[in-house]
Amino acid sequence: MNFHLVSIFPHYFESPFASGLMGKAVENGLVAFDHVDVRHFAGGIHKSVDDRPFGGGPGMLLKLDPMAKALDSIESPGRILMLSPRGKPLTQARARELSAEEDLTLICGRYEGIDERLLDLYPIEMVSVGDFVLNGGEAGAVCLVEAVARLLPDFMGHTDSGEEESFSAGLLEYPHYTRPDDYQGLVVPEVLRGGNHGKIEEWRRECSLESTLNDRPDVLPEASLTVEDIDFLRTLSRTRLGRNLYIALCHYPVVNKFGEKVAVSVTNLDLHDMSRVARSYGLGGFYATTPIEDQKALAEQLLNHWKKGAGSIANPDRAEAFSKVKVFDDIEAAVLDIETQTGQCPRLAATSARLDRRKHAEPALTYADVRKWLEISPVLLVFGTGHGLAEEVLAKAEGILRPIRFLDDYNHLSVRSAVAIIVDRLIADEY
Ligand SMILES: C[S@@+](CC[C@H](N)C(=O)[O-])C[C@H]1O[C@@H](n2cnc3c(N)ncnc32)[C@H](O)[C@@H]1O
Repeated sequence: MNFHLVSIFPHYFESPFASGLMGKAVENGLVAFDHVDVRHFAGGIHKSVDDRPFGGGPGMLLKLDPMAKALDSIESPGRILMLSPRGKPLTQARARELSAEEDLTLICGRYEGIDERLLDLYPIEMVSVGDFVLNGGEAGAVCLVEAVARLLPDFMGHTDSGEEESFSAGLLEYPHYTRPDDYQGLVVPEVLRGGNHGKIEEWRRECSLESTLNDRPDVLPEASLTVEDIDFLRTLSRTRLGRNLYIALCHYPVVNKFGEKVAVSVTNLDLHDMSRVARSYGLGGFYATTPIEDQKALAEQLLNHWKKGAGSIANPDRAEAFSKVKVFDDIEAAVLDIETQTGQCPRLAATSARLDRRKHAEPALTYADVRKWLEISPVLLVFGTGHGLAEEVLAKAEGILRPIRFLDDYNHLSVRSAVAIIVDRLIADEY
């Protein structure tokens, strides 16, 4: 496989590509590097490759002409990749796909990057090696070359190595041990020394599952899991962000379609569906708030039917869901209740289907913001009935969560659907 490395620092690659298995692969002719020094294609006495950006701003840019000439000099470039933090992430799946190519050209940026018109001139695919900024594309190119080349047949000497590693099956890899089997009392797990290959395989799979759940729960949704895997995962303890999340459904004060402050009736359907979400996602609790006495009595009657009355016998699952529900006068009473239970004052986040266009409004809260809060504190997420929460409730919240489907103009969801979507985005399956 031929890597054409387009860079202003070709010497950068000397040591990494001469060491270890990569050095051997070069010797064996499995991998070849073609260093294309952009400076050779620069004009003028100074051979300058950079210039100031139009529109001002800090730093310099790599000029178009030397870059274009450098690319034109490559006879057989194959796919052209440019290392850039703006690119699609380099993943194991992408590395595997690239390993099927004969030639790959890698463009390494420097300074603030490269004149954007290079992308108009060549079919360039941008690749990022992570959500951080490096000084130049060379370090990223080393990562890409390593990830791709080691998947070539014969690179590692044994063909199955690439299959067993982290991310190959969507999971992190299991731990490895070598001699001595006892190092200062730290003993290699018994199963690895017993020689029972079935047991070793089972142990390794379980270790992979456990470390993925603990260290990278975000990759679990994409992993291919058997029923046995899931049964095992269920036995493990995990971070349960849900226990810190409380939801409230506010029936007063909310607004009607004319923007007037009103009270809305309690509905059976909202109580059922929201309590089921609260139970399914292991939430701390669900508060239905209304100051109207007959509405509170109606809600209590419903709850009693399902928790203690005939409903509890016919459907004990529903009784379990309703055990999460409390009926209070207002949001302040819910906040106090959470404080009493947890010893911590909850952070208050409001929800709305509308963008907050008030003057000097803060940017909307993201799901990542609220997830961070959940890691250390109880959070009360307030949902509105009618046409949404009244201004006085919004004003009490620390922030308003970005509306669901904020990029489209129609997002009229029932509050029950909104609760399910928002809670799922915050907690998902892996927490
Ligand atoms: C200082 S960076 C330029 C960063 C650019 N101004 C930005 O904010 O996106 C210089 C060069 O380093 C490379 N680079 C930096 N971070 C990278 C990353 N995370 N992945 C891939 N390449 C990266 C790119 O080739 C980039 O053109």
